[in-house]
Amino acid sequence: MRIGMLTGGGDCPGLNAVIRAVVRKGEGQYGHNLLGYRHGWRGVMTGESIELHVGAVRGLLPRGGTILGTSRTNPFKSEDGPGKVKATLRSDNVQAIIAIGGEDTLGVAHKLSTDGIQVVGVPKTIDNDLSATDFTFGFHTAVQIATDAIDRLHTTAESHDRVMVVEVMGRHAGWIATYSGLAGGADMILVPEEPFDIEEVCDRLTHRHQRGANFSIVVVAEGAVPAAGTMELASGELDDFGHVRLGGVGNRLAEEIERRTGFEARTTVLGHVLRGGSPTAYDRVIATRFGIEAIDAVHEGDFGVMVALHGTNVVRVPIEEGVERLKTVDEKLYNTAAVFFG
Ligand code: F6P
Repeated sequence: MRIGMLTGGGDCPGLNAVIRAVVRKGEGQYGHNLLGYRHGWRGVMTGESIELHVGAVRGLLPRGGTILGTSRTNPFKSEDGPGKVKATLRSDNVQAIIAIGGEDTLGVAHKLSTDGIQVVGVPKTIDNDLSATDFTFGFHTAVQIATDAIDRLHTTAESHDRVMVVEVMGRHAGWIATYSGLAGGADMILVPEEPFDIEEVCDRLTHRHQRGANFSIVVVAEGAVPAAGTMELASGELDDFGHVRLGGVGNRLAEEIERRTGFEARTTVLGHVLRGGSPTAYDRVIATRFGIEAIDAVHEGDFGVMVALHGTNVVRVPIEEGVERLKTVDEKLYNTAAVFFG
């Protein structure tokens, strides 16, 4: 069988490990022929692809990014996009597609699958906000990078008697903020799930400093929002899926904290650093297991499914389950982190 594969949305440590696993088992054991489409759904629309043989995936396991390239192109926002996708698959003689992506890429995969295209999804996002899977690969790596940064910021915060605001990715959900804040001993964690009250944030920090602390660490997810009418945030442009370009809450927060409390404050925006570089051992293992399950599903003709981690098992669920709602931070987990606030 000739099988296409693509990576869409933001890149994520572990994408190359999935590609390697699919090719190693797909060609190496099943004898299928793999074709990689460039830059997500864009390459499927334009017919831009590369042949993926076992030799082409050597050395990929620890490599960050994606050798296929990625984009946030949505075929359903482009004129006759789905028609172009079908035309490319026909002319490339591709019978099935493995789509590796987050809510947007898999949302497209789901629509195309209901339209008769044979698709298997692999969930990826450093944000860990896809439902139907306990974890996505890339998340563990992002949390480790953020935790290392928080550890480093602790020593400089302490030396200068400062409040350090650390902004991490997390557009709709504060998983990275909560995990890294918990692991790094943050004194406050702000997440998109709970609009924050700047007054309360400042009161807690003041209380902490009155009790003898000379510095504080505040971890904020980029998608965190102030409670209505309490603080203004700048808004940015929209992408193909209607998402606003974020970034800026950390700086605004530091300004407000300094103005309201008198404590000197600084911001570090970790941003894309969290998505870069080599995946952790844990992410390499999940990514590899996901890739193997995906190629097994294709080989067995089990389409319209997404691979997922349930507990310690890799399973298959309908793609729809992964994209129908966002997985937000568990209240109990956030409350555990909140024990250490202020
Ligand atoms: O991969 C998801 C994500 O990490 C979001 O948290 C973030 O808002 C977005 O990517 C930013 O990606 P880009 O700048 O590549 O559009």
